[in-house]
Amino acid sequence: MILSTWEWIRLLGFLAYFYFTISIIFGLLRKSAFVKSHKNLIYHIHQDAGWLGLITVIAHMLVLLIDHYEPYSLVEILFPFSAEYQSLSSALGTIAFYLFLMVIMTSDLWIRTMNRSLWKKLHFLVLPAWVLSLAHGVLIGTDTENALIIMFYVASAGITLLILVARTISQFMKKVNISTSHNN
Ligand code: HEM
Repeated sequence: MILSTWEWIRLLGFLAYFYFTISIIFGLLRKSAFVKSHKNLIYHIHQDAGWLGLITVIAHMLVLLIDHYEPYSLVEILFPFSAEYQSLSSALGTIAFYLFLMVIMTSDLWIRTMNRSLWKKLHFLVLPAWVLSLAHGVLIGTDTENALIIMFYVASAGITLLILVARTISQFMKKVNISTSHNN
């Protein structure tokens, strides 16, 4: 089966969003008590899915350059709001790309040379990056009309938000426990 460039763009866009979502979910799960016994596996899934997301989104952007139906120039892909086609939705994708790129570079390549608290602050920019990529996919994608795709977006966003809330509550409880045990 040979796919057209347009189908490749859509497939690679979905794959990139899927890998970034998996990376974020496993990143959030790393600190939870019930998965402590599989810490290494969870860390590797978190890291590998991030790299796969980055590789597939770069491929998504490269295929846009050679698409005949709605071709983008390099400038339109790299500079937010410069695209003629769906300027705002395209810009959301470009900004999400830069944020993901920065998070992955600072985590895997520059972490040893960086201040830990700065690294942590930068690392959490992955959440706005993910929200932007979700908004980009929903707003610009042809497949947003498809019920299965809408279910995929709702399920992936729901699971991610649930895990984020569970982690925030458990971190908060941990802090409360530590401060009460200090006071006793
Ligand atoms: C992290 C960055 C990005 C992610 C995760 C991402 C993901 C996605 C997803 C999930 C879709 C929906 C596919 C569909 O419904 O068929 C999509 C479509 C699209 N993306 Fe991206 N994208 C990113 C960056 C970009 C950039 C930088 C551009 C160009 C400036 C771009 C241009 C497009 C276009 C034109 C489509 C529409 C394809 C169609 O006609 O359905 N994307 N993208």
